[in-house]
Amino acid sequence: MKLEAVVPWGRSLAEYRAMFDLRDADLHGEILDCGGGPASFTAEHTAQGGRVLACDPLYQFSAAEITRRVEATYETILDGLRQHGDRFVWNQWATPEALGQARLATLDLFLADFPVGKAAGRYVVASLPRLPFAAGQFELALCSHLLFTYSEPFSTAFHQAALRELARIAREVRVFPLLENFSGCRSPHLEPVMVNLRTQGYAVQICPVPYEFQRGGNQMLRVYRA
Ligand SMILES: C[S@@+](CC[C@H](N)C(=O)[O-])C[C@H]1O[C@@H](n2cnc3c(N)ncnc32)[C@H](O)[C@@H]1O
Repeated sequence: MKLEAVVPWGRSLAEYRAMFDLRDADLHGEILDCGGGPASFTAEHTAQGGRVLACDPLYQFSAAEITRRVEATYETILDGLRQHGDRFVWNQWATPEALGQARLATLDLFLADFPVGKAAGRYVVASLPRLPFAAGQFELALCSHLLFTYSEPFSTAFHQAALRELARIAREVRVFPLLENFSGCRSPHLEPVMVNLRTQGYAVQICPVPYEFQRGGNQMLRVYRA
């Protein structure tokens, strides 16, 4: 799969808290943001004293190259939001333009942290389904807008291997959302992924979360050792 098929569009700590229904207690252990892209979760949580790593193939690029990649896709994403506005809930942001500005503010927070964070080992170049981390290294692994979102380029087998890998390295895994990008339908990979994880001895739950931008996208998947 080409990296270009996945857009670099990043969300804030406040959005991560809502998307994954994160309470203060959830933020105490070491966290992995898998497919973190230009999200500011790692920058903001680190600034607040949290322990967090982000991994993404995007991190092979420099801050200037990542900025160019975001700028190159920015108008296309906004056009998509304008054309399919009815598929989204416009309460947090009134317009696609307001959302775009929020995403650029998030990008700025990420960019301010990225060079120093990469040097410190907080931004790791790595791709699912194989990650360079030890078993049980993280208390919690988060994956936002990658798995299930990109159901078309990534197969069921890829999703199953990716979730097993995340469950190997973290005591608990949370994935949001469970819908495919734009179509708004629940990912066809969700059911076979849940069956596969249960046969491997994991507990799997679909939980409601206090976040809904994609209409109907207000649930996350939780995976943990039963
Ligand atoms: C839509 S962005 C989401 C960024 C962030 N998680 C958020 O929600 O704000 C998806 C990210 O997944 C990354 N990605 C693509 N393929 C990946 C893979 N195989 N393993 C890990 N990350 C990947 C992309 O580079 C991109 O930064």
